[in-house]
Amino acid sequence: MSAVLKSVPEFVPMRPEDVDAVLAVEQGAYPFPWSRANFVDSLVAGYSAWCCRVDGALVGYAVIMLVLDEAHLLNVTVAPDWQRRGYGTLIMHHLFSTARAHGARRMFLEVRPSNLSGQGLYDRFGFGKIGRRRAYYPAIEGREDAVVMAVDL
Ligand SMILES: CC(C)(COP(=O)(O)OP(=O)(O)OC[C@H]1O[C@@H](n2cnc3c(N)ncnc32)[C@H](O)[C@@H]1OP(=O)(O)O)[C@@H](O)C(=O)NCCC(=O)NCCS
Repeated sequence: MSAVLKSVPEFVPMRPEDVDAVLAVEQGAYPFPWSRANFVDSLVAGYSAWCCRVDGALVGYAVIMLVLDEAHLLNVTVAPDWQRRGYGTLIMHHLFSTARAHGARRMFLEVRPSNLSGQGLYDRFGFGKIGRRRAYYPAIEGREDAVVMAVDL
């Protein structure tokens, strides 16, 4: 009899020693990536930061800020080679259960109007548009607005 072993993604809290690998993925995933200081500051601030690993490989990560009954999704990223295989969905499920376990009742985020993959993922989780921040992000030419989205948890 042969057994087929399927790798199960595991979620582990992001540690300072993960930041080099996280930053390498970040720089490959975004035209305007977070800086090392953004990740270090998030860890120092005690934000809920997670690495998603498959057989030890860093597949993705996420950072959320939990304040009272609100969760703010600050970063969710799947490494380019691992995208479109369901890991973003798994990470979002993990973030929803983490946020609920901390008593959050609503989750907020900002996304670029040009980011179709992000918006596709957020639509799937029931996020609705609640506002727009003008010229929020740096862009190739000038600045780009942010769409503000929220969902009840
Ligand atoms: C957004 C992101 C996290 C999605 O991760 P993923 O592992 O590819 O997502 P999944 O495979 O779970 O896909 C979930 C849904 O997201 C949407 N989606 C994902 N990639 C997409 C793409 N390239 N174009 C349009 N929709 C996309 C689809 O609705 C998809 O469902 P489907 O495959 O059934 O059509 C990933 O594309 C990423 O890291 N992008 C770069 C960083 C980023 O933009 N993060 C969001 C910042 S706001």
